[in-house]
Amino acid sequence: MRPAARVTGLPPYLFAELDRLREEARARGVDVIDLGTGDPDLPTPVPVIERLCLEARDPANHRYPAYRGSGRFREAVAAYYRRRFRVELDPDREVLAVIGSKEGIAHLIWALVDPGDYVLVPDPAYPVYHTQTLLAGGIPFALPLRRDHGYFPDLTAVPDAVRERAKLMFLNYPNNPTAGVATQEQLAEAVKFVRRHDILLCHDAAYVEMTYDGVVAPSVLEIPGAREVAIELYSLSKPFNMTGWRIGAAVGNASALGILGRLKGHTDSGQFTAVQHAAVEALTWKGAAAFLQEMNAIYARRRDLVVGRLASFGWDFDLPRGTFYVWARPPGGLPVGEFASRLLEDAGVLVAPGPAYGRGGEGYVRLALCVADARLTQAMDRIAAWQARGDLRF
Ligand SMILES: Cc1ncc(COP(=O)(O)O)c(C=O)c1O
Repeated sequence: MRPAARVTGLPPYLFAELDRLREEARARGVDVIDLGTGDPDLPTPVPVIERLCLEARDPANHRYPAYRGSGRFREAVAAYYRRRFRVELDPDREVLAVIGSKEGIAHLIWALVDPGDYVLVPDPAYPVYHTQTLLAGGIPFALPLRRDHGYFPDLTAVPDAVRERAKLMFLNYPNNPTAGVATQEQLAEAVKFVRRHDILLCHDAAYVEMTYDGVVAPSVLEIPGAREVAIELYSLSKPFNMTGWRIGAAVGNASALGILGRLKGHTDSGQFTAVQHAAVEALTWKGAAAFLQEMNAIYARRRDLVVGRLASFGWDFDLPRGTFYVWARPPGGLPVGEFASRLLEDAGVLVAPGPAYGRGGEGYVRLALCVADARLTQAMDRIAAWQARGDLRF
């Protein structure tokens, strides 16, 4: 069958491609250690699972969900923002349930971007901002993330002609893939920029709870006046090990959320109400703070294990301050696509090649810390042995 032209032009989805490479290698008998995909290996907290079981038994939840998300879910998100960021949100107008932040990103673009509109997209970045902009006929304009600025873009470098035709700007902190964490001052700079140029800012805060070394990541909505020009995407996927559950929220600018909700009404019917109520359990659970701390301690330990070894192998990186990624430049100068294929073939270690996140990813690979310490140690041992074999230009 002939696909639509818009699909023909799409590259394979990065993470589906990584899954394919992993499965192919496994089928050849390779014992693959997967550091490619950012998908927590630890389970969802038990009270959340138990709440889902209870809610799944309630026939009231078996019907179509409410379009904007259940009232209980929207109130729980508002209460979380009050508690965590001291931001007051109106659950009726300023909170909208999404089926994971990926769905929110995609539909926000379709709801706002006309063919020919510019969308400002960080480079490197989670690939969905770029590909969905292309699908909607928009023009992605790359905002290079500057390593010397904590992986924040230089907004003064956006040309006038682009600023004037830009409809939307994405930022994402703590950042995938660089693991940079923006300061409040940097987010305030972004808010000022979008206000001046009449652009909507979408801050993707999927990793906002995942930071190390005492760093606390801000919400963009903490910036005074931000709700007039910005929305934020919050997701339960990563902090609560709930990637499979597909639940998150878009919060902030009521007019943008109204437009997004209008498009969603014609596209999906929302997330299963039982899942939304299980998410309420996560957001209101007394043990949540301790759980998040415990998860971050596990990722910090894995990070330390990995960066200590990579440094000893001559890899170049900044110490990750958030997310569960290590963004690193391997030595040797081999194009990283080839580097990653050979690492998989020769050492059975899967990493994500940086260029898959944009041109700014050239020279880098991303390692996800979603495997247990023993496997991480094994992965580092294999990389060490592989590099020492010297059949690459190290
Ligand atoms: C920056 C970023 N945004 C959004 C997502 C999607 O998360 P969700 O499970 O909420 O759709 C991811 C997943 O890896 C991500 O890295």
